[in-house]
Amino acid sequence: MREVNIGSASDFADPGRKIIGFEGFEVGVFKLDGEFFAYLNLCPHMGGPVCQGKMIAKVEEIIAEDRTSKGMAFSKTRMHVVCPWHSYEFDIRTGVHPGNARARLRKIKVTVSDGEVIIGVPDARERVPALPEMGE
Ligand code: FES
Repeated sequence: MREVNIGSASDFADPGRKIIGFEGFEVGVFKLDGEFFAYLNLCPHMGGPVCQGKMIAKVEEIIAEDRTSKGMAFSKTRMHVVCPWHSYEFDIRTGVHPGNARARLRKIKVTVSDGEVIIGVPDARERVPALPEMGE
């Protein structure tokens, strides 16, 4: 696997992301609380540019002791990216869909060395979603 320096870690907003283009595919690199996460920019649903979607805190239901709902709130710890095509959401730290663990983004190796962000360029066989398209 070839490794590519995509620039200084300090050039990323936090939270923030950059889309890195290669010939024929893209990688989304996210920074959250100083940590980096990277995925192929290809949604497992129907191939949309998932990493370009809105970054938003996970919406969680607050359940009281009597098991009644106290409404919805934004998570203080979990951040999602929302695919711009059909709004599937994925946890940015894990790449996994919150309602279906089989639906996940293709993880890309990312490290920080001497303040520089390095990603592992996926081989051709890895440039497909983690699972075949899920369809509707
Ligand atoms: S292609 Fe991403 S939600 Fe449909």
